[in-house]
Amino acid sequence: MRHEPIVLFGDSFVDTSVQQPYISLEERGLQFGDGIYEVVRLYSGVFHLLEPHLVRLYRSMEEIELKPTFSKAQLVRWLYELVEQNQFRGDGMIYLQISRGVQPRNHIYDPQNVPTLYAYIVGKERPLSSMQQGIKACSEQDIRWLRCDIKSLNLLPNVMARTSAERKGCTEALFVRNGIVTEGSHSNFFLVKNGALYTHPATHLILNGIVRQYVLSLAHTLEIPVHEEMFGLRDVLQADECFFTATTSEVMPMVQLDGTAIGTGVPGPITYALQEAFSEGVKNTRLHAL
Ligand SMILES: Cc1ncc(COP(=O)(O)O)c(C=O)c1O
Repeated sequence: MRHEPIVLFGDSFVDTSVQQPYISLEERGLQFGDGIYEVVRLYSGVFHLLEPHLVRLYRSMEEIELKPTFSKAQLVRWLYELVEQNQFRGDGMIYLQISRGVQPRNHIYDPQNVPTLYAYIVGKERPLSSMQQGIKACSEQDIRWLRCDIKSLNLLPNVMARTSAERKGCTEALFVRNGIVTEGSHSNFFLVKNGALYTHPATHLILNGIVRQYVLSLAHTLEIPVHEEMFGLRDVLQADECFFTATTSEVMPMVQLDGTAIGTGVPGPITYALQEAFSEGVKNTRLHAL
């Protein structure tokens, strides 16, 4: 899937149909994965849940001592301008990356280094048919580092787990660390048991997803009890319903794990109720479309 032609690179906009941005070989994002990123949703060209994504972006930067050379207000202006410059009015996502910039290769970073920023838009429809039917997942060992709460560029364990799951016919990998189910390779995970939601607490072992936080607030509104506590694979297999959440996949039912059906093998009523509440939010976002 090709991105929209105009990209934000540093403090300027580059039309990639005319010229490609120059990235140094000694860019730390490339050599060390020394940086962080965000993926923000656009519905009808309008930002969805932008503020919590920015809060997490700034937290990620702070946690790795990456100091931006631009203000948050400036970044927001650039993101809006990116949408405008591309005249983007569809459903899509913005990929935004900030790395520690260019420096002669050395593990020790210079905290004063000028970060490299870039962002681009990719068109992406809502995955409505998978949301209706649900997906299959395969469990994989969670071999990631112990700061999964930082949205870092280092995604090798996620990449390997998802590829391994895909080779076994699964759409998502469900991470398990020491017998505890943490999250998906690019999503958070929830199970439903006896009418209540269960999800791993937002510790350093998972990324505190923006849709995870949003779904918790929807559950609160719908008066669905929520337990942020740890559980194992057996609890998942005995659950009534399961689903993943993420910016591009929204509330995605998991109907099979490692070949075993979850509940009745189709998405359940609580999953559908949360999907419906999520869709209402999408409708509200679209109301702001030009
Ligand atoms: C490991 C991981 N967990 C959870 C998520 C979901 O986060 P969000 O809801 O902010 O998209 C992602 C999204 O990319 C992720 O990579």
